[in-house]
Amino acid sequence: MKALLCTRYGTPDDLVLADIDDPLPGAGEAVVRIHAAALNFFDTLIIAGKYQTKPQMPFSPAAEFAGVVERLGEGVTGLKVGDRVLGYSRYGAARERIAIAAVKLIKLPHHLDFDHAAGLCVTYGTTLHALKDRARLKAGETLAVLGASGGVGLAAIELGKLMGARVIACASSDEKIAFAKAHGADEGIDYAKDDLKEALRRVTDGTGPDVIYDPVGGPYAEPALRAIAWEGRYLVIGFAAGEIPKMPLNLVLLKGCDVLGVYWGSFVERNPEGHRANTEQLVAWVADGKLSSHVHAVYPLAEAPAALKAIAARQVMGKVILRI
Ligand SMILES: NC(=O)c1ccc[n+]([C@@H]2O[C@H](COP(=O)([O-])OP(=O)(O)OC[C@H]3O[C@@H](n4cnc5c(N)ncnc54)[C@H](OP(=O)(O)O)[C@@H]3O)[C@@H](O)[C@H]2O)c1
Repeated sequence: MKALLCTRYGTPDDLVLADIDDPLPGAGEAVVRIHAAALNFFDTLIIAGKYQTKPQMPFSPAAEFAGVVERLGEGVTGLKVGDRVLGYSRYGAARERIAIAAVKLIKLPHHLDFDHAAGLCVTYGTTLHALKDRARLKAGETLAVLGASGGVGLAAIELGKLMGARVIACASSDEKIAFAKAHGADEGIDYAKDDLKEALRRVTDGTGPDVIYDPVGGPYAEPALRAIAWEGRYLVIGFAAGEIPKMPLNLVLLKGCDVLGVYWGSFVERNPEGHRANTEQLVAWVADGKLSSHVHAVYPLAEAPAALKAIAARQVMGKVILRI
């Protein structure tokens, strides 16, 4: 089968497309013929050796996929050959087939296509965990989302609206803000032009957002925290801007606020039932048209380096899919 391999840490151009043996299912495993795999920002880091997960070489990037069950190992129940499924594998999905524990697969309704299913798990899964399990976002509260047009950012806009919040999209261009508004955001702030702290106060009549969702970090984190409401919740999602912010703790004291870490990958390992329930809920919402699972672009597997470069260059709105 064809597989995109990282054989040494480097850039997207260092990845190689290779022919390798098909996997066999071990006990409790299924082999899935992958039809679509989704890329995330962290794939740009994992191939460079700059991510917390460091798989054994050679490995394939892409942490999530959708496809069809092709073979079953001993002892698998609840799945049959031919079932359409999605899954999260941490890495290893940029290839034609994957062997994975069958309990990690979630069945898809017939009318949900592979491209939209493949990119659902990580971004919306992280965000549902963040907003529901960590911040306990309530209807009527105000949610500010940084990097609002990116993968997790768009998920936060849509899930925030679905949970009844007033949503403020913060992003680096008019085009990105318009995209976030088209997906439900009530307000937009261009943090490349506007002072983020002042703008967040302005659009909340001086009170500040109740919940801030931050997958960007860098220069935006401190101004955002300075604007947060009394007893607000600041969600630490990621650092797409590169720099890990160091925040003055007096701000947390003065706002009586909580800074909440979100590590979805660890939540999946520690609470598989909670992860399954969240993912089944997300699949139902996408199938019902309540979430877009927006696909920015689809690339063939051989063009994965171009897809990764587009993510690193901040050009993507929603998800990038590899069709395999
Ligand atoms: N905590 C968790 O469990 C978890 C789970 C999934 C992802 N994450 C993290 O969340 C972050 C976003 O992931 P994603 O897949 O949503 O990424 P993405 O689709 O590439 O979106 C990232 C957004 O960050 C902004 N950004 C600012 N500076 C950037 C830079 N120098 N390079 C690239 N983007 C920049 C961009 O928006 P603007 O141009 O509008 O600023 C972009 O839309 C990553 O750090 C990822 O590792 C964390």
